[in-house]
Amino acid sequence: MARILAGCAEAHANIALIKYWGNRDHRLNLPANGSISFNLDALLTRTLVVFDPKLTEDRLVINGQERRREEHRRMQRILAWVREKAGVYHYAHVISATNIPMAVGLASSAAAFAALALAATKALGLHLDERDLSRLARRGSGSAARSVPEGFVEWRVGTRDEDCYAFTLFPADYWELWDCIALVSTRPKPISSMEGHRLAETSPIQWARVADTPRRLEVCRNALRNRDFNALADIVEQDAHLLHAVMQTSTPPLFYWEPVTVEIMHTVRQWRKEKGWNVCYTLDAGPNVHVICTGDMVARVQEALEAIPGVQQVLVSRVGKGARVLPTHLCMDLAQQGRIPTHWL
Ligand code: DP6
Repeated sequence: MARILAGCAEAHANIALIKYWGNRDHRLNLPANGSISFNLDALLTRTLVVFDPKLTEDRLVINGQERRREEHRRMQRILAWVREKAGVYHYAHVISATNIPMAVGLASSAAAFAALALAATKALGLHLDERDLSRLARRGSGSAARSVPEGFVEWRVGTRDEDCYAFTLFPADYWELWDCIALVSTRPKPISSMEGHRLAETSPIQWARVADTPRRLEVCRNALRNRDFNALADIVEQDAHLLHAVMQTSTPPLFYWEPVTVEIMHTVRQWRKEKGWNVCYTLDAGPNVHVICTGDMVARVQEALEAIPGVQQVLVSRVGKGARVLPTHLCMDLAQQGRIPTHWL
């Protein structure tokens, strides 16, 4: 029997403190601006990739469900690169399980493509360093570049494919920050981030947001380095406002906020200004609010968020590690979900 080539890996989602929005190159996902994020320990995706000489097309199974071929497009970018590099042209079973609610603006794709890049390269015996793995994950989803390194991460804007990757600014335990994600809607978003990136340049203020990014990155790096929460809060909220200002002034406009989104934004600022709590908010391409706080605040913030009418659920996460390989014998459950024989692993 021809050799079965399998690899398994896991990776976390991440939340951007300074956002990525818009591309210079949509094929390679070279971003319009640099960004900073931290990984979310509690939001995890685990992926098993098995290249199988008997297979006649690629398969994608997520949480036990076979996905349609139209949903394979971004995955193909990574598989094509890996096959070419390894000179192995078998089709693959890609079997993934995640605890991240998908398509609700929680960047499920960041964890997915970071785990896929690592599992697929491992399966074919390619040993990419962190930088090249981050570049490969970026081809699937820009923000996936940031889910490869651990902790607090910066994704360099770079000048071309080779120097456009993410790296660790500070390890996960450098500062005990948490993300309390107030879920206000789990409806799938009407416009994906991928389409949103293409609309960014239709906003007359995108150029100003991009031009000011080096300043915001510098303020954010310093706030993290000095563990200065108030400085972090100001820059994180300003950056989120800039992102949504661009979205709202694109053609067609992207308006992700619900009334309860705005209510939470006001409330979080009040908690910081009036009660002196270490809290601030940020928002991605969706109505859910990411409330960032220090470790001593988590229980209080979670409880207070849950008490706001319209908040359906609050997910909490500390800062997480980077993407990592798992021994394939720990991925038997995935093999079962993908209905492939476990003795292949
Ligand atoms: C608003 O293209 O990485 O979250 O693939 O849909 O997860 P998905 O998105 P991606 O863009 C993310 C945009 C953002 C800001 C950010 O994470 O920097």
